[in-house]
Amino acid sequence: MTRYLVTSALPYANGPLHLGHLAGAYLPADIYVRFLRINDEDVLYICGTDEHGVPITITAEKMGITPREVVDKYHEIIKDNFAEFGISFDNFSRTEKPEHYVFAQEVFLKLLDRGYIEKKPTKQFFCSKCDRYLPDRYVGGTCPECDTEGAKGDQCESCGSWLNALELKEPECALCGSSPEIRETIHYFLKLDEFQSWLEEWFEGHGDWKNNVLNYCKGWLKDGLRERAITRDLSWGVPVPVEGAEGKVLYVWFEALLGYVSSTIEYFRDKKEQSDWEKYWKDKDTRIVHFIGKDNIVFHAVIEPAVLHGLGDYILPWNVPANEYLNIAGEKFSTSRGRAIWMKDYLEHFPPDPMRYALAINAPESRDTDFSWDEFRVRNNELADVFGNFVNRTLKFAQSFFDGKVPDNINLGKAEKDLLNLAVNTRNEISELIRNFKLKKACLSAMDLARTGNRYFDSAQPWKTAKTNQQACANTIYTCIQLADTLRILLYPFIPFTCERTARMLSRTTVKWDEAGLENLESGHKLGKPEILLEKLKKGFEKIFEEKKVRVEQKEETASITYDDFMKTDLRVGIIEEVSDIEGADKLYKLVVSLGDETRELVAGIKQHYSRQDLVGRKVVVVSNLAPAKIRGVVSCGMILAADGPGGVRLVEPASDSELGDRVR
Ligand code: 2FM
Ligand code: ZN
Repeated sequence: MTRYLVTSALPYANGPLHLGHLAGAYLPADIYVRFLRINDEDVLYICGTDEHGVPITITAEKMGITPREVVDKYHEIIKDNFAEFGISFDNFSRTEKPEHYVFAQEVFLKLLDRGYIEKKPTKQFFCSKCDRYLPDRYVGGTCPECDTEGAKGDQCESCGSWLNALELKEPECALCGSSPEIRETIHYFLKLDEFQSWLEEWFEGHGDWKNNVLNYCKGWLKDGLRERAITRDLSWGVPVPVEGAEGKVLYVWFEALLGYVSSTIEYFRDKKEQSDWEKYWKDKDTRIVHFIGKDNIVFHAVIEPAVLHGLGDYILPWNVPANEYLNIAGEKFSTSRGRAIWMKDYLEHFPPDPMRYALAINAPESRDTDFSWDEFRVRNNELADVFGNFVNRTLKFAQSFFDGKVPDNINLGKAEKDLLNLAVNTRNEISELIRNFKLKKACLSAMDLARTGNRYFDSAQPWKTAKTNQQACANTIYTCIQLADTLRILLYPFIPFTCERTARMLSRTTVKWDEAGLENLESGHKLGKPEILLEKLKKGFEKIFEEKKVRVEQKEETASITYDDFMKTDLRVGIIEEVSDIEGADKLYKLVVSLGDETRELVAGIKQHYSRQDLVGRKVVVVSNLAPAKIRGVVSCGMILAADGPGGVRLVEPASDSELGDRVR
């Protein structure tokens, strides 16, 4: 029997994830997997965080913490955000797990043994100012392929090329900006050239893959595959398991791809049949499907197949449905540049389903698409108006007129039969579409059925027939209830939370794809309580995000300082003794503050936030060694601390039992 092993690209644990990530590799995979599961297919959905490589070490350096602290922090955040969005992995692992080290090292040794990896001297950028080698993203420059500035040492995000750092034009050290020199070092190389003709033949059999993927791979093969270094001079990563290779680790891409396998191994580790993982990677009845963004194509469609083929006993990816990019205002989302709408920010304000729906309908399946809050609002309201409204009006009607039960159906008319037939046909059409990775069309098709349902409701006019022809009214509501049940099954892969609520309102406990289009709810079946499924949004609702963005941007401008830098600031507990106005200044007060053994005069911009009575006798924190400054004719000797946010300015208060003059740190 066919089984599926579905993966989404392992995200780097170097920052929170944004909507671009969600739309590219996670939501589509989750839709696909949920669809397979409710079709009773044997499916395993595997992912985890990618915790090595330069993206992690650079982040650690910027934040002034260790790589391990970086990955520990972001692994949890990423995992939680995925769970909240309903991304239903069977296992979400991490490449810092021991299983992964063991497996990646085993694969390296096996390929070395089989002659697919060789060791040789090579040249590499070295920054003499920073006294270190500059692997991958430690060097930046202009892309030799597309001439875009800002390409990184291993990859150009703009054209998606996998680069050799030495080919970058105008290379610069990413840490200090100086121009690096070239030094010799030893590295291990994967002999990709040996897989060229085998890969060419393999691609012949994959004419059904998405065009973007095929074109990309063909371009690569046309240029001729060359050997690639798969080790790096770095201390963070999976050590190269060979004597004499101390200080070298496996190249992150080489081992991250193996993370799919090690995450599967981990999943089965505690189960009775530990070796079951092999069925998903070695048995020809398994279909491996990799969901990724377009910048990952070469790794999943060329490198991974080559590695798996080189190992001998593995099967190969069955499909690699790569997506294009979701942009904002025509520009790419970018974690490193902080241009993004973060999943966690969205989740703070809204439920997951409207975004799942908006991103599914606007999916970058065959070309880049643009995200805007306006489009999101339109999609949210469409979901509420079309699906939400259909379910709501049907169930409310059943509650008011049929005692909350499915009414009798006697001699359904043509309109009712047509609608039920359409439901079956739509189910079959959506199956076909999802199985062929056309998720956007599938979602549109389900919504079209809901629209037809609303039109049917309108034209059947049950509010009139309730008075004139009770059986016609019962037939209408009977049919609409069956359709509501079909819709919550068809839409379940896309908006699972809303469909689960709908199921509860219909008193239905299972989700089975094959039941869509059937008359599952018998006359007399007691329905649950109808509730509003989805809230509509008004124009301008996105202001909440903009305020937040400004705050985040302000935050990001502050550079990190050392402990010693911080300790130069002398913060003391003081008490406000006098408050007076300053002529002509409506935002400022002149304060007399006592620090115990001395008294200061200082100016504070808090007049609009505090009255005089509020201030006299209040303990505050004073920056006591701030150089004096003349403000509106008053010499201000120090500053008092306050928190400044969208809610206004609030003074920082030391504990009431702290002594005047105490140092704050
Ligand atoms: O582009 C990325 O975010 C990579 N961390 C994807 C890795 S996918 C696979 F290799 F695991
Ligand atoms: Zn440098």
